[in-house]
Amino acid sequence: MIASKASPDHSVLETGNLATPRHVAIIMDGNGRWAQKRGLPRTAGHREGVAAARRAVDAARDLGLKYLTLYSFSTENWRRPAGEVRDLMALLKQFIIDDLPRLKDQNVGVRIIGDRKNLMPDIKALVSHAEKETKGNNQFVLQIAFNYGGRDEILRTVRELAKDVSAGKLNADDVTEAIFSGRLDTKGTPDPDLVIRTSGEKRISNFLIWQAAYAEYVFVDALWPDFNADYFAKAIEEYSNRERRYGGVSGTTG
Ligand code: IPE
Ligand code: IPE
Ligand code: MG
Repeated sequence: MIASKASPDHSVLETGNLATPRHVAIIMDGNGRWAQKRGLPRTAGHREGVAAARRAVDAARDLGLKYLTLYSFSTENWRRPAGEVRDLMALLKQFIIDDLPRLKDQNVGVRIIGDRKNLMPDIKALVSHAEKETKGNNQFVLQIAFNYGGRDEILRTVRELAKDVSAGKLNADDVTEAIFSGRLDTKGTPDPDLVIRTSGEKRISNFLIWQAAYAEYVFVDALWPDFNADYFAKAIEEYSNRERRYGGVSGTTG
């Protein structure tokens, strides 16, 4: 293989099919429709959604993954009614309070990605606490995308880099993909191999737009509160039947 300066430095460069993804990222969608179908308030769907997230963490560990990222609140979700936004904030808080001891016991590292600036002080404190308490846990990493938007993350990173350039700490021409990736919220985490979206919608909704440039996508019709280990295993099976080429040619290793 000829190492070219122009070749992108993806975290996983092996082409061909990989039986098990290292990192799966999930767009947990369909809580509202799940509730609506039952004549329940949307919040009931979000509460069931937390239960499904808990199941997904267990399933991911059982399936031998190393990283799981869950999209739980987007930078666009502020457009929802104030009461629903409040409920979603409260559910994140409750999840951290209830699940942190168990996650610590299981040697799970917890990281929160997204913009923390506009979060309530108590949530900010809780999120930092969860990260601090699980720092160094490397059996399995759970990333929670909260107040996360891919464009917002990229812009925050660009601003940071621009400041470094104007302060003379960095040469603009030295900004590589690796340097850029290393400044994102996801620094230190390999790019997702597989992105799953539930509820039948087929869009990215501003999720990991930089990191998932070469991810495989699997769309599941089930609504998020109904997602379970079987759906998860099926999505991974579908992934393992795909061939990842990264722009190369079938059957070559670059
Ligand atoms: C996903 O479910 C949870 C969040 C986006 C916070 P939705 O609340 O989007 O559910 P639908 O799409 O309205 O059914
Ligand atoms: C994406 O779901 C965001 C999360 C799952 C947190 P949305 O329900 O907000 O996405 P759109 O509005 O259908 O694109
Ligand atoms: Mg939705």
